Amino acid sequence: MSDRIDRPVTINAAFLQELKEVNQELWQTLDNVRALCGQPLSMRLHSRSLVDLLARLRDLLAMHFALEEAFGYFHHAKEVEPEMDRSAKQLRAQHSPLYLRASELADRAENFWRERDDAMLTAVLPVGVDQFVRDLLQHEAGENELIYRTLYESIGVAD
Ligand SMILES: [Fe+2]
Repeated sequence: MSDRIDRPVTINAAFLQELKEVNQELWQTLDNVRALCGQPLSMRLHSRSLVDLLARLRDLLAMHFALEEAFGYFHHAKEVEPEMDRSAKQLRAQHSPLYLRASELADRAENFWRERDDAMLTAVLPVGVDQFVRDLLQHEAGENELIYRTLYESIGVAD
């Protein structure tokens, strides 16, 4: 994920949009995590499900971010609108820390489950999950806005 310094970054809007549309398993897993975290009783009864869902979310995010970075973002040989360059670099740079947080949440869930620490698993962990989901959705909203503006407001490659 190293940046070739000074090369402007832009997005392949059509690819990014399609990737987000076809990745239904990721959004479904995210919905399931959110639903479970909103139901303390279910979480106690199905604590292993939460552990498995968080591990699945981590793996799906790794694939999603890798695909986005491989085909959705690219260094442009020519000029790019400075606003596009700035936003694209900022959003792309969020992938690594988001993945690390997903990974950490999955590891913590697994450890709490192994230690049979129900209080941590069902009361403390969901707070971190909630914050993570909010930040992930904010990242997605940022990319969706960039896609929309690239497709419909013709920001992107400068003349
Ligand atoms: Fe992304």
